[in-house]
Amino acid sequence: DKVVLAYSGGLDTSVIVPWLRENYGCEVVCFTADVGQGIKELEGLEEKAKASGACQLVVKDLKEEFVKDYIFPCLRAGAIYERKYLLGTSMARPVIAKAMVDVAREVGADAVSHGCTGKGNDQVRFELTFFALNPELSVVAPWREWEIRGREDAIEYAKKHSIPVPVTKKSIYSRDRNLWHLSHEGDILEDPANEPKEDMYMISVNPEDAPDQPEKVKIGIDAGLPVSVDGEKLSPASLLSKLNEIGKRHGIGRIDMVENRLVGMKSRGVYETPGGTILFTAVRELESLTLDRETMQVKDSLALKYAELVYAGRWFDPLRESMDAFMEEITKTTTGSVTLKLYKGSISVAGRESPFSLYRQDISSFESGQIYDQADAAGFIRLYGLPMRVRAMLDKGRYD
Ligand code: ARG
Ligand code: SIN
Repeated sequence: DKVVLAYSGGLDTSVIVPWLRENYGCEVVCFTADVGQGIKELEGLEEKAKASGACQLVVKDLKEEFVKDYIFPCLRAGAIYERKYLLGTSMARPVIAKAMVDVAREVGADAVSHGCTGKGNDQVRFELTFFALNPELSVVAPWREWEIRGREDAIEYAKKHSIPVPVTKKSIYSRDRNLWHLSHEGDILEDPANEPKEDMYMISVNPEDAPDQPEKVKIGIDAGLPVSVDGEKLSPASLLSKLNEIGKRHGIGRIDMVENRLVGMKSRGVYETPGGTILFTAVRELESLTLDRETMQVKDSLALKYAELVYAGRWFDPLRESMDAFMEEITKTTTGSVTLKLYKGSISVAGRESPFSLYRQDISSFESGQIYDQADAAGFIRLYGLPMRVRAMLDKGRYD
């Protein structure tokens, strides 16, 4: 009799409100999460929701939680989907869905609803989170049920139910924005042969127009988690905002890719992740000092699976949680700082240091030292290469 709807104030979710009331005869509680998407008219939003027929609007600021408990663990894990995607949308869905489960409990709702289409990943991410956190909740996904097929249908439905049509004109792209990234899909991007238009980008300048002077930025990291920028300690969300500003002006973090959605189809997307790209580079550079070869290999192989779970909406899966425990343990010594140089879309390393560095200049130096005796290498190579010598002797006998 009461449903909590993930509400943005846009056309689609505005139309869902009367549709839920008409088709399910329930009261609709709208829920808007602030994950850093830049909600413009937060003040007007409650009136807007009510004008659509909602009984209530609940707004929660999830920015710090999002960055600290969702983004930073993925960063620490090095989670990248299909070689490129930094998972911006994938990480935001579980934090929003979790808050919806909380709101449902607070207002006594027995159902939840979202405006995701039946063709995408987001529906899966929302619903797996609902399942994991409260399997009793009913889930309503209007896009999978109703007759509305597009914008025109939605406007007509709104007029018929005399709810105001949101004035914000819809962009030609399907976009999703939060503190970590902005994604673009649809329109000319649907043909992978098309280069994105420059005016599509919103949170990064064109690298070609970026300053001719490089800029250095120093990232402080504690146990695999970023803690400071240029020596200034910052909360997770403010640290990320700051790096977004810096990365933006140097055109950092544009990604154009074709990816495999969970539902089987390929889709083409363009992502802007300025601050996130800086952070990924910083953590990776620090790990080059603090992780040994085999640890790094195992970590990287698990990171692939970790990313896949996050992409597929399995945030609250014990498998991801256990892998997170591994990541936390293995990055305990990933502490120190990395200085990066940003220049016209590129990032280069200008220095890294760690009190737990496994790099020892006295060992690695070309000057001779005490710990490493070059004479040891001869025996090492003979035994390390024993299988190769055996095979070569065998081949020799065979071909002689
Ligand atoms: N393809 C990306 C993902 O699956 C971005 C999805 C964007 N979502 C959206 N509702 N526009 O994570
Ligand atoms: C949607 O279909 O709702 C957005 C795209 C996606 O979820 O992948």
